[in-house]
Amino acid sequence: MDRHRVIGGPDGGIPWHLPDDVAHFRAAAKGRHLLLGRRTFEEMQGWFTDQIPLVLTRQEEYRVPGGVRVSDVTEAIARVVSAGQNLLLVAGGATVFAATIAMADRLLLTLVDTDVSEGLSSVQSDSLPRFPDPAAFGDWRETSRIERPEDERHVYARTFLELTRC
Ligand SMILES: NC(=O)c1ccc[n+]([C@@H]2O[C@H](COP(=O)([O-])OP(=O)(O)OC[C@H]3O[C@@H](n4cnc5c(N)ncnc54)[C@H](OP(=O)(O)O)[C@@H]3O)[C@@H](O)[C@H]2O)c1
Repeated sequence: MDRHRVIGGPDGGIPWHLPDDVAHFRAAAKGRHLLLGRRTFEEMQGWFTDQIPLVLTRQEEYRVPGGVRVSDVTEAIARVVSAGQNLLLVAGGATVFAATIAMADRLLLTLVDTDVSEGLSSVQSDSLPRFPDPAAFGDWRETSRIERPEDERHVYARTFLELTRC
């Protein structure tokens, strides 16, 4: 997310390319069931090699090549349990983060030191997808923080945070 919790650009997609953030996400997602909104899943086609995508959609006939369609979060959790696992990783987008943060035990956040809204009108800015404000969904303690400055491969500084529900 950017400084104002924005997670996507005005035309969809993720508004930065940060190789260490991708690696961080891949490491957390390896072998896991990932809960994704249908829009995010479509953006990430071809990305899933060693994860199991569970795609949230209200479209009953929606096909998920290499994954599973789910109609609600309860169904996604049941899938994880029936596979003998105990962790569902919620990977966005904004609607799915909003629907699940109240149930989350841990948040893995990358704070990207940029402002996606810069140069946009307030109407455009208000319509950008955002991560919810964690403070509105309980008390969290910081269990990990890694700070990385900008460098030749990363145009923005990043902070990798892990928050655990108190
Ligand atoms: N920076 C990041 O870490 C990050 C991560 C993920 C995504 N993103 C960005 O976030 C943006 C997309 O987010 P978004 O909020 O627009 O879309 P989204 O959450 O990816 O997908 C929305 C769709 O998911 C389905 N859905 C959502 N909630 C549901 C529910 N409770 N029950 C059933 N189906 C449900 C609906 O699909 P149907 O319309 O098919 O019914 C809905 O249209 C993109 O810009 C993407 O790049 C950023």
